[in-house]
Amino acid sequence: MTLINNSIQKAVALLNQDQIIGIPTETVYGLAGNIYSIPAIESIFKMKQRPFFNPLIVHIKSVEDLPEIVSVIPEKAFMLAAAFWPGPLTLVLKKQASIPDLVTGGKDTVAVRVPNHSLTLALLEQLDYPLAAPSANPFGCISPTAAEHVANYFKNLLPMVLDGGVCQRGIESTIIGFDNDEPVLYRMGSLAIEDIELIVGPVKMRTHDDNTPMAPGMLSRHYAPLTTTHMSANVTELLKTFVNQKIGVLIFQKGIDNHPNIVAQEILSPTGNLAEAASQLYAALHRLDECKLDVIIAERFPDVGLGKTINDRLERATKK
Ligand code: TXA
Ligand code: MG
Repeated sequence: MTLINNSIQKAVALLNQDQIIGIPTETVYGLAGNIYSIPAIESIFKMKQRPFFNPLIVHIKSVEDLPEIVSVIPEKAFMLAAAFWPGPLTLVLKKQASIPDLVTGGKDTVAVRVPNHSLTLALLEQLDYPLAAPSANPFGCISPTAAEHVANYFKNLLPMVLDGGVCQRGIESTIIGFDNDEPVLYRMGSLAIEDIELIVGPVKMRTHDDNTPMAPGMLSRHYAPLTTTHMSANVTELLKTFVNQKIGVLIFQKGIDNHPNIVAQEILSPTGNLAEAASQLYAALHRLDECKLDVIIAERFPDVGLGKTINDRLERATKK
């Protein structure tokens, strides 16, 4: 069995022995190892069943450690780090030669962020190295937002999950890269693009192409529940097309009364708060997946702020 425990000392001991562990962050749990330990990094890819060309995110304890990781810091990258770290923003920048190719999938850039979780920041303080950590889910599955999700995914293959409770944001970080020193959105996430634009002005969108994925989070099918999922702005209408099926619905604010085929209902924010809805999304999908449903029907969210990120994840969840 995976140990679920909040002992930083135990976590340090395992990491110093080239082992990997689950760590909490404010976004989702990560599967973490020493960035300079090739055996640890290899174990991360193996345990996630993740292709080696998909690079990992490096987690550092403060912006002061950034020059150890990256060789060039454009002014707008620095402004974003100053505004949002610790927090749910990942920057993709030119890497230092010392960062192993295995971490970056052979790219000359590296993804880096300062997570905003007291336990993981305290852990990083105790280590002589940063932590590489992708989300702690098998490739293509829903990201974990609680220690138990991680333990359920990897069972006894993983020695420990550092238990930091339920993730406050509940959706992965927003990833920003740079093109001629100008910010480009690589992945929508739990920092709204509007908030980023307040600091650095307009951010270009990166359109995706399944043949040359920039980031696996940009693959069409990702973050997916096992249950077939559909999405609609009008859930009531879509419900009419499913007869004699066990249905689970995922709704923003207001539940659906007295429908004979709805056996599970997840209402993400009765008060209509998008940040709250985002924080509940993956946990709700995990629960619906456990209900042995024929189908999940999800409501399309308002296309603003974190509503855009939620719609992005739901759209990927509906892909076959
Ligand atoms: O919130 C998060 O970002 C969580 C927590 C644990 O920090 N981590 C996370 O990691 O979501 P992961 O591996 O599931 O997603 C990281 C994304 C991947 O899509 C990866 O391809 C992209 O970051 N990425 C990493 N390095 C990159 C690079 N050099 N260029 C482009 N994309 C990169
Ligand atoms: Mg992931």
